[in-house]
Amino acid sequence: MSATQQDQASLDRVGGLSYLNPAAPEPWASFVEQIERVRPHLGALERWIETLKHPKRALIVDVPIERDDGTVAHYEGYRVQHNLSRGPGKGGVRFHPDVTLNEVMALAGWMTIKNAAVGLPFGGAKGGIRVDPNSVSKGELQRITRRYTSEIGIIIGPDKDIPAPDVGTNAMTMAIMMDTFSMNRGGTATGVVTGKPIALGGSLGRQEATGRGVFIAAREAARHLRLPIEGARVVVQGFGNVGGIGARMFHDAGARVIAVSDHTAILVNEAGIDVPAALAHTAANGGLKGFAGAAPIDPEEFWRLECEFLVPAALEGQLTVERASRARAHRRRRRQRPDHPGRGRHPARARHPGRARRARQRRRRHRVLLRVGAGLLQLLLDRGRDQRAPRAHHGRRLHRDLEGRAGEAGVAAHRRLHHRLRTRARSARRAGAVSVRREA
Ligand SMILES: NC(=O)c1ccc[n+]([C@@H]2O[C@H](COP(=O)([O-])OP(=O)(O)OC[C@H]3O[C@@H](n4cnc5c(N)ncnc54)[C@H](O)[C@@H]3O)[C@@H](O)[C@H]2O)c1
Repeated sequence: MSATQQDQASLDRVGGLSYLNPAAPEPWASFVEQIERVRPHLGALERWIETLKHPKRALIVDVPIERDDGTVAHYEGYRVQHNLSRGPGKGGVRFHPDVTLNEVMALAGWMTIKNAAVGLPFGGAKGGIRVDPNSVSKGELQRITRRYTSEIGIIIGPDKDIPAPDVGTNAMTMAIMMDTFSMNRGGTATGVVTGKPIALGGSLGRQEATGRGVFIAAREAARHLRLPIEGARVVVQGFGNVGGIGARMFHDAGARVIAVSDHTAILVNEAGIDVPAALAHTAANGGLKGFAGAAPIDPEEFWRLECEFLVPAALEGQLTVERASRARAHRRRRRQRPDHPGRGRHPARARHPGRARRARQRRRRHRVLLRVGAGLLQLLLDRGRDQRAPRAHHGRRLHRDLEGRAGEAGVAAHRRLHHRLRTRARSARRAGAVSVRREA
């Protein structure tokens, strides 16, 4: 291959974008590769492939702050709007020392696909700052968040692009972002972010939404595969907002969470980890390290643990082909039938070998369970309120919209949520309170 051909090949790996480093093509290259993989199936829609391979807008900002010791520090920040054709951008803000423009672009691209797949009227966006939030003080973190918001303020807004929490950020970050944007605009703009605290117009259930989405997706897949949740073994990578809540929901449903990991420790306990105790330890110590209720395990062993559910809830790109092929997640446990010892251990195989084999193949194909866009659905609730949609009408329309998008379980969960909200508002009115909060 000539030097020119080599240059072109490297450039192709990053989708032909000269501003990305072809020597470090991931994860944007993965996104491009995925898009190319579906090309043959797109029919007339194939003409939009190039659009998906070209992010609409990528903003790089410098975030200078005065540190507590009086020195000035600079952090690199990004906001990428991959595609806004379906509506305002929606996507998280990641605070992590390894965030790159390349990564934020890929995450923004996946948001475009996610929103379109669930049929929501939002585009794809993502943001991030190269900072370890645990290495700066609370005051410094607030100054970083405020300066970043001001810098990207020219492209975000309730009708343009709506940031959300992601790795290293939380409801407090969103509150600071909303406050900064509102200050700069000269008026309250609750709709500029999602995932904000309830007192500032956030939605009940938002903080748990993504972790709950993990659990609901797993529960529905388990129902489909006739796999009991009770007693099932669960392995969770990432013990933050998504992984922590997801683990707690599995635990509450009677599953056995046998291994958890975060950036400080990888722990296993085959008898089942006391998830509430592990969450309390993490809240008090900033991580799982030192938790006495489980033993450390080698990082690669973690992926080989036999379990029914494997939940990757840390950073993307963890489930490599190699790890996935070695993962021993979800092998249905054989049911013991006391009246038919031996053959009865697997009755389906004994009577219908072909059917049992096909079922086994199907189960293997479904080894890893994916998250659904619970945070996205929750944003619809936020937005209804932010735009002051008439309450009853909005509620009905939302349920109708969710029907067919989130499946029965999603709709039922949202109905329960609305029922709770209505009951709460009613009892508050009876108690003489003026209003609990504006509600969707
Ligand atoms: N928060 C949301 O609403 C939301 C919505 C959609 C998708 N996600 C995705 O879910 C994932 C988790 O997000 P989150 O909000 O829980 O973030 P978080 O910051 O609350 O938690 C991240 C967790 O991952 C751990 N972690 C980081 N690097 C790790 C590593 N190399 N090995 C093991 N653990 C590691 C951290 O210690 C932490 O426990 C991310 O991929 C994020 O993009 C989150």
